[in-house]
Amino acid sequence: MALLEIKNLKTYYFTSKGPVKAVDDVTLNIRQGEIMGLVGESGCGKSTLGYSIINLIPPPGKIVGGNIYFHKEDLTQKNEEDLRKQIRWKRISMVFQGAMNALNPVMKVGEQIAEALYLHENAPKQKAMERVEDLFSMVGLEASRMDNYPFEFSGGMKQRAMIAMALVCNPEFMIADEPTTALDVTIQAQMIDLLRSLAEKLNLSLLIVSHDLSVIAESCNAVAIMYAGKIVESGDIVSLFKKPLHPYTQGLMDSIPSMEEAIKKELVSIPGAPPNLLNPPSGCRFHTRCPHVMDICRREEPPYLEAAKHHHVACYLVKKT
Ligand SMILES: Nc1ncnc2c1ncn2[C@@H]1O[C@H](COP(=O)(O)OP(=O)(O)OP(=O)(O)O)[C@@H](O)[C@H]1O
Ligand SMILES: [Mg+2]
Repeated sequence: MALLEIKNLKTYYFTSKGPVKAVDDVTLNIRQGEIMGLVGESGCGKSTLGYSIINLIPPPGKIVGGNIYFHKEDLTQKNEEDLRKQIRWKRISMVFQGAMNALNPVMKVGEQIAEALYLHENAPKQKAMERVEDLFSMVGLEASRMDNYPFEFSGGMKQRAMIAMALVCNPEFMIADEPTTALDVTIQAQMIDLLRSLAEKLNLSLLIVSHDLSVIAESCNAVAIMYAGKIVESGDIVSLFKKPLHPYTQGLMDSIPSMEEAIKKELVSIPGAPPNLLNPPSGCRFHTRCPHVMDICRREEPPYLEAAKHHHVACYLVKKT
C-alpha cells in the first residue's frame, strides 16, 4: 500500500538570477514498510525533495506544483498550523543533513532531546526524561550518556542522538538525509544496521538519502535515482541492481567498486559535470553526458514509464513492457 505518493512535484528556489529548479516534476511512491534510498550527485535536489515532504523548504524555496499524498491526504493543501499540529515530527520526521554538528554545545544531549519533547508533545519533565531514556536505548546509547555534552560524543553517537530526536513523537515515516556521510566506514555500517532495525521494530518507513549507492544497496529495499532535479529511475532494489535501465544508473554502478570483481572490473567515471539547475539542458537532462544520446533526447523529455513491475525509468532506450 502506498504510504506516500509524490506526483509531479516542483520545488524551485527563486534567486535573483532566476528560479533554480531543484525538484522538477518528480513522481515517486513509497510503500508502507519500505526503506527507500534516494541517490544522486551533489546538488541534484535530494535534500530539497526531503524538505518538500515535511514542507520546511529554506527560503527562497517554494513548492510551485504537484502533490504529496500521505495516506491519500494531500500535504501540499494543508495549512502551516495543521502541518505542525498533525504531521511534521508527529507522523513524518526528518534527520537533517549535517544536523549532528548543530547540537547545542552547552546543553546536555539528553536535555536537548527532552526539549524536543516539551516542544512537540508538551510532556512533563519527569515523563520526558523517561522517554529520552527509552529513546537512548532504542538508538543504542547508554542511559548514562544522557548527561554528556555533545563534545563528549563521537560522530556516530551524535548521529544516533539526532535519530533519537527525530523519533520523539513516534513517527511512521522518517527521512534520513545523508545519515552516514560524515562517519567512517565501520560506523557507517552500524548506522545502517540501526536504521534497518528501527524500521523493523517501530514499523517505520524510511527514505534514506545518500550520494553513495553502496550505502543504499546495503540498507534499502527500494531505490530512486535522482539526476538534475528529476527521478530518472526507481524500483525494487533487486530489480534495479540486477538490471539498471537508465544510462545514469548504469554509470553510477560502474563507478562503485565490487568485491567479486575487484580485480577484473575497471572503475569508470561518468564524464562531464552535473548541469546547472538555473538553466538545465533541454530534453533529457542527462543527454549532455549520456553515452547513448540520440537526437530525440536533446529535443524532448522522455516520459517516466513503468518498464517492469515497480520499476520505472525515464529513457528513450527503454520501451514500455
Ligand atoms: N537556499 C537555496 N537557494 C538557492 N539555491 C539553492 C538553495 N538550496 C539549494 N539550492 C540549489 O538547489 C539545488 C539542489 O540542492 P540540494 O541541497 O537539494 O541538493 P542535494 O542533492 O541535497 O545535494 P548534496 O548531495 O550536496 O546534499 C542545487 O543546485 C543547489 O545549489
Ligand atoms: Mg543534500
